[in-house]
Amino acid sequence: MKKIAVLTSGGDAPGMNAAIRAVVRSSLHYNMKTYGVMDGYKGLVEDNIFELDRNHVTRIINRGGTVLGSARYPEFMEKNVQKTAADNLKKRGIEGLVVIGGDGSFKGALALSQFGIKTMGIPATIDNDIASTDYTIGFFTALDTAVSSIDKLRDTSFSHQRCSVVEVMGRHCGDLALYAGIAIGSEFIITPETGFDHDLTIKEVKASFDRKKRHAIVVVTEKMTDVNQLAKDIEKATGHDTRATVLGHVQRGGTPQAFDRVLATEMAERAVELLHLGSKQHIIALKGKEIIHIPTEEALAMKKETPAKRYGLVGQLRN
Ligand code: ADP
Ligand code: F6P
Ligand code: MG
Repeated sequence: MKKIAVLTSGGDAPGMNAAIRAVVRSSLHYNMKTYGVMDGYKGLVEDNIFELDRNHVTRIINRGGTVLGSARYPEFMEKNVQKTAADNLKKRGIEGLVVIGGDGSFKGALALSQFGIKTMGIPATIDNDIASTDYTIGFFTALDTAVSSIDKLRDTSFSHQRCSVVEVMGRHCGDLALYAGIAIGSEFIITPETGFDHDLTIKEVKASFDRKKRHAIVVVTEKMTDVNQLAKDIEKATGHDTRATVLGHVQRGGTPQAFDRVLATEMAERAVELLHLGSKQHIIALKGKEIIHIPTEEALAMKKETPAKRYGLVGQLRN
């Protein structure tokens, strides 16, 4: 293989730039040229593709976001649109594509491989919702952001003897809420895996104040419940001022922490090595301490093992 391309797709994640950099540098090692595609599948279809050299990726290993841009582009579900994308690669003699993104992006990669493009998927999303890998690039950086934000909330919550209800991201996966909740010592955690029990939540917060704690923190995965309403209900039931905070997109930005950079670099190296060897389509993953690769269809069919089950946690954390 002489030419490959790389794109970032779906919600951006800290560490995507480290992966782009490692794709370019590893390709050089195998005497392959790398092309960058702007804005995910949108740029691929609109032919927004340019050659990336060593200098394009200098000093990006420590930058958040993605220098290639990312997009949600539902049009890519259509076969004729996928064909246009594959043709844009083929006309430049590009045979392989590295897709850095989440499970939706990997479905797009699988579609492209049916048009003869060899594809490698690198899992990067703050949600950690990809079953085939223990951890995704960006998860631990987003977790650190959530934890440091909730630590700040606790300062003010303690001072005013309040309860804080904090909504974190995660889409349909509770990992960010679960790990953040454990790391900050929250009173209660509500995730898609634990489910939401309104009365139990209030009971636990009340019990915590009854134990003479000056503050309480409830961590909730987005979409599980209306956090403003829950805050009102807790305030009414406990008599303690309660405030809701939605952490939102700040969780997606910022400098990638070291683990995410290392993971991104190792995964990208494997992806490029596989393309060099002529592999057709795989997803790269971390299993224990090993970087592995799994055929795309097999990886997409895997079901995520929920940490909530692993820890036997259903909300209550005995704090
Ligand atoms: P993520 O990759 O983080 O899971 P999305 O689910 O938004 O994020 O997917 C990113 C993009 O991947 C979509 O906007 C679309 O362009 C493409 N995509 C998602 N699902 C499919 C699919 N079934 N077939 C083809 N392309 C898809
Ligand atoms: O997948 C990453 C993520 O940040 C999810 O946690 C969240 O549900 C979603 O993307 C938000 O998407 P958008 O950036 O389109 O608002
Ligand atoms: Mg996804």
